[in-house]
Amino acid sequence: MGEFVKAASASEIAPGQSRLVILNGKEIVLFNIDGEFFALDNACTHEEGPLAEGAVAGHEVTCPWHGAKFDIRTGEVLCDPAYEAVARHNVRVTGSDIEVEI
Ligand code: FES
Repeated sequence: MGEFVKAASASEIAPGQSRLVILNGKEIVLFNIDGEFFALDNACTHEEGPLAEGAVAGHEVTCPWHGAKFDIRTGEVLCDPAYEAVARHNVRVTGSDIEVEI
């Protein structure tokens, strides 16, 4: 079990937006999907492309390097050239803080 650490304020990330944060030295991307927050590693499982720079459409993020898509809610890979899920992290909102388990 990891620990929950503050990653951002909920008001800093609008619906449909993402934000890169560094937590305990690790790059994590926060996403706001219709008011619900999710967190994935900022490293595509193909060649570690930066998912924080990927386009978000609904609950999908597209890697900016070669176009692999991932489900933001689960980390599951949706199309090649990636074949493995990206690590997701549990998220909770405490007051106005987004907290991520790492
Ligand atoms: S690094 Fe993401 S698709 Fe290649």
